[in-house]
Amino acid sequence: MSAGAIQLQQLPPLSLYIHVPWCIRKCPYCDFNSHTAPGILPERDYIAALLADLKQEQTSVQRRKLASIFIGGGTPSLLSPAAINTLLEATEKQIGWQKNIEITLEANPGAIDAQHFAGFHNAGVNRISIGVQSFDDRQLRALGRIHTADDAMRAFKAARNAGFGVINLDLMYGLPGQSASQAEADLQTAFGLQPEHISWYELTLEPNTEFHKRPPRLPPELALESIETSGRAALQQAGYQRYEISAYARPNQQSRHNRNYWQFGDYIGIGAGAHSKISSIISNRIERKWKTRVPSDYMAKGHCRTAGKRTLEPAQLPLEFMMNALRLSQGVPASYYFQRTGLQLSAIEPGLKQLRQGGLLRKEPDRLCTTAAGSRYLDSVLQAFIL
Ligand SMILES: C[S@@+](CC[C@H](N)C(=O)[O-])C[C@H]1O[C@@H](n2cnc3c(N)ncnc32)[C@H](O)[C@@H]1O
Ligand code: SF4
Repeated sequence: MSAGAIQLQQLPPLSLYIHVPWCIRKCPYCDFNSHTAPGILPERDYIAALLADLKQEQTSVQRRKLASIFIGGGTPSLLSPAAINTLLEATEKQIGWQKNIEITLEANPGAIDAQHFAGFHNAGVNRISIGVQSFDDRQLRALGRIHTADDAMRAFKAARNAGFGVINLDLMYGLPGQSASQAEADLQTAFGLQPEHISWYELTLEPNTEFHKRPPRLPPELALESIETSGRAALQQAGYQRYEISAYARPNQQSRHNRNYWQFGDYIGIGAGAHSKISSIISNRIERKWKTRVPSDYMAKGHCRTAGKRTLEPAQLPLEFMMNALRLSQGVPASYYFQRTGLQLSAIEPGLKQLRQGGLLRKEPDRLCTTAAGSRYLDSVLQAFIL
């Protein structure tokens, strides 16, 4: 099967990801590009490098305004409000913001205070994502976290008091020795705070982490299934709708930034190790690019910040598109396929038909969306798009 030639006729929405690569302490399960922060954070040098990176990305913009910005990490809440303000001002001046832009910042409950929340809010951040992981102090210690459950509660309340109307909590499940009732207790404590959004991740053992070298005893498969079944029901009952594998939101509170990734939108990534995906109508190309990962290299004058790039070939695009779109519980309009890959949907129609007949994709011609079975066996669904 040939995917055909790319013919892009319009550009997708544009988001900006800004990476902050430091944390107070590296967690033993985490494989993000995050490093234990030096005694004094090189904030000035890092912001200068980010601003230079942003300037170089000007050609990626192609007259669009930003739909969303996500300042992630690492632990961005380690930066000062003045630094965040400088950055955000530059993005508004150099690229421009859509009127209802969503600006998210990730915070660690052990690396944030009320003044920082107020300062970030004043700088234009309008969505806070707090890394709670669990409300059980024993689990927090096992996970190597630098904060207690009380710290997380305090951080949540401080964010609300600072004026944040949209708050996400990150929780993980499948923690060492965890039972379904313990996992649900974490969720119930979260519901009590009434966040607008909850990201509920299964703890995974990633290569190159301490937990991979010395694995803790994780719940067996059956216990994990029972945690997932009861947890998903509890989230639903509390009014959090699942809209992606790990993302749950109150009505109209989905993360627009992450949704843009999953809908195969464009994004510029600045900061150590950040990734971009940019489409061009002029060259009919979709390109992925990534920045150098080591913070000192990224900041070094004269060092090339771009570590690599690759153009997505037509034969790679069906899988790249579906890997993102089919994560969404409601999938995407079928028209997005042509709009965002520049390829004709008819070229993959035989594969779609087979998946629909097999009960793995919904039988709606104008939507690309898995059924419950398709979502469960997503990896085998995606095989159909490897050309
Ligand atoms: C960049 S961190 C969030 C902000 C901050 N660094 C913190 O941890 O508080 C992103 C989230 O990814 C999740 N995460 C990281 N490593 C994970 C793993 N191995 N398995 C599952 N979730 C993980 C955690 O829930 C974490 O809050
Ligand atoms: S989970 Fe968050 S705080 Fe922990 S190392 Fe990763 S990015 Fe840093």
